[in-house]
Amino acid sequence: MKTRIITVAAGLVAATAFAQPATTNSLVIHADAATNRISKNIYGQFSEHLGRCIYEGIWVGPDSPIPNTRGIRNDVVAALKQIKVPNVRWPGGCFADEYHWKDGIGARAQRASIINTTWGGVVENNHFGTHEFMDFCEQVGCEPVICGNVGSGSVQEMMEWVEYLTSNADSPMANLRRRNGRDQPWKVRYFAVGNENWGCGGNMRPEFYADNFKRYNTFIKNYPGNNVYRVACGASGEDYNWTKVLMASAANQMNGLSLHHYSLPSGSWSGSKGSATAFKEDQWFSTLRNTLLMEELVTKHSAIMDQADPRKRIGLIVDEWGAWYDVEPGTNPGFLYQQNTLRDALVAGSNLNIFNNHADRVKMANIAQAINVLQSMILTEKEKMLVTPTYHVFAMFLPHQDATLLPSELTCEDYAFDGRKISGLNVSVSRDPAGAVHVSLCNLNPTRPARLRCDLQGATPKSVSGRVLTAADMTAHNTFDHPDTLKPEPFEKVEIAGNGFTTTLPPKSVVMLEFK
Ligand code: AHR
Repeated sequence: MKTRIITVAAGLVAATAFAQPATTNSLVIHADAATNRISKNIYGQFSEHLGRCIYEGIWVGPDSPIPNTRGIRNDVVAALKQIKVPNVRWPGGCFADEYHWKDGIGARAQRASIINTTWGGVVENNHFGTHEFMDFCEQVGCEPVICGNVGSGSVQEMMEWVEYLTSNADSPMANLRRRNGRDQPWKVRYFAVGNENWGCGGNMRPEFYADNFKRYNTFIKNYPGNNVYRVACGASGEDYNWTKVLMASAANQMNGLSLHHYSLPSGSWSGSKGSATAFKEDQWFSTLRNTLLMEELVTKHSAIMDQADPRKRIGLIVDEWGAWYDVEPGTNPGFLYQQNTLRDALVAGSNLNIFNNHADRVKMANIAQAINVLQSMILTEKEKMLVTPTYHVFAMFLPHQDATLLPSELTCEDYAFDGRKISGLNVSVSRDPAGAVHVSLCNLNPTRPARLRCDLQGATPKSVSGRVLTAADMTAHNTFDHPDTLKPEPFEKVEIAGNGFTTTLPPKSVVMLEFK
């Protein structure tokens, strides 16, 4: 059993925002009916050769005055370690299907430059390649998720990359790696066979991609000590036919099938998507409404996967998700640089709650993207760095990583705006190995607090503590001059009551409660 959300129509809305009465809501947590483990890999990141994600965000080069270890920014690595990033997907995205990995190995001064045709037409000097990425993962302490090139690359090229990375044999690619300074093979568990091959990765029909997946995948070898988890390119949003075709023709050769869904305020790829920071309640509402579509997408794609895979061996890998707005004024439109507000905290918290609640099927997710691109954890400006509201949500949700999902049923009032409505609250609950229960809650309503009464079945909490991320203004965000405008604060509006608790969630807030 997962979280079941039942919504009821909202009551009368009072005239002024902060005079609004609290909504009334209830939650039942079944602490006695633990289900699946929430894979820590749901808290993964995505970093593409796009804008200032890799260059400036991660890689500054060994000669930079910005403190670095072998060219990789120390401040960024330290911040990512703090949130225990479990995995990072690289090198794309659309860039993956035009990336030729041999351009990015050997002495940096001799590496070929190419044009990044998808993202701004800028020169890519390939100074950040396989060795640098693997070094970055080792510094962060995360697993690599490598996306291979199907769209413009050959089967041999992909086969040789896996040999270069993971073989310890006396073989051409393993020896090439040794000549480039790395004696031991790396462990690479996650390897994706192409990205968005229905679009930038080759504009393929699902039938054509399914055949290509099988062909490329055949030559991805498991070298001794390294078993590859093979991720097939999955659907964009509501393209259920893509999932049907892939599952019908290639299920037995894949370990994971991906899904991409972005939250746009406008809901449309054409024209303006909406500003990241200058918005009113209409775009707050529409962004969150588009975010909650993830629940339907995961449910429906999973149901299709169930037909060929009822035991849920194959993971749904949501390897691109997050909010997508117009770029910051004055920045390169091809660089996708956007600010990050309290709205993004709600986008992050709601998506993570959805993934946690579908832990039986969702085995990995990668927010797009880690640094300086789309819904980032981190923004940098030369030597300066700040962490975003989204980063803080990942920090607050840390206890869910690898914890046991506890089923829950939420009955909550709707959040209605301009004749449309969405569920006002969302939640996920887990128990950690020490027995503590963690409840993460989002109140999407920007003007009404939410009163919540919870019945905690099968557990008797003795103490509670909490943290909250909220602000007076829905557009609140951190800047390089004021990097701590938005950060989690202690939360005290919660009381243990019998075998449960009562709380009042502030409007537009993400709250994490811990019961011991
Ligand atoms: O994350 C930005 C882009 O969005 C990725 O390159 C692509 O896969 C998706 O369309």
